[in-house]
Amino acid sequence: MAIREILEVPDPRLKTVSEPVNADEFNDDLRVLIDDMFETMYAAHGIGLAAIQVGVPKRILVIDLQPEDPDAEPIECDHDGHKHTHPATKKEPRVFINPEILDPAEELSTYQEGCLSVPDIYADVDRPATCTVRWQDLDGNEHTEALEGMMATCIQHEMDHLEGVLFIDHLSRLKKQMALKKLKKLRLAA
Ligand code: NI
Repeated sequence: MAIREILEVPDPRLKTVSEPVNADEFNDDLRVLIDDMFETMYAAHGIGLAAIQVGVPKRILVIDLQPEDPDAEPIECDHDGHKHTHPATKKEPRVFINPEILDPAEELSTYQEGCLSVPDIYADVDRPATCTVRWQDLDGNEHTEALEGMMATCIQHEMDHLEGVLFIDHLSRLKKQMALKKLKKLRLAA
């Protein structure tokens, strides 16, 4: 397993429309990529990650909404030129390959969203409150599930990444400009 670099705005690769995972690509390379995506997401304290956020333009999402598991073994790493440990894994890793949204509700719900590719910026976004999602697992088997609450919001946020869309793209032009300005300031201060 390895932690990969997370692309951040304004990296143009984040605007890529990701390609489907083909039938002949459900192999060990895909498993390695997904393991790396989980490790990268956990190390960054995220709850969801799309493959394009680590520079791979494929329709793959990983999500884990559970709080960090204090009983799990920490992950030992020696990237960045020094040995260190990352937070333990969480409890509910979920993988969605080639996900599709089937019937988004008309009713909206609002959550404050953030994104590992737009660090330290949070804003309210309205999205359909519930949706049904069809996807494939690591073995290529198809599943369908009705989602609600945080999970419905999170998967819609992650699926936006597959179309090259970020949560700040849902904000008014003014709010988006303010968010990007704030991010620039935070980076300068870092
Ligand atoms: Ni995101």
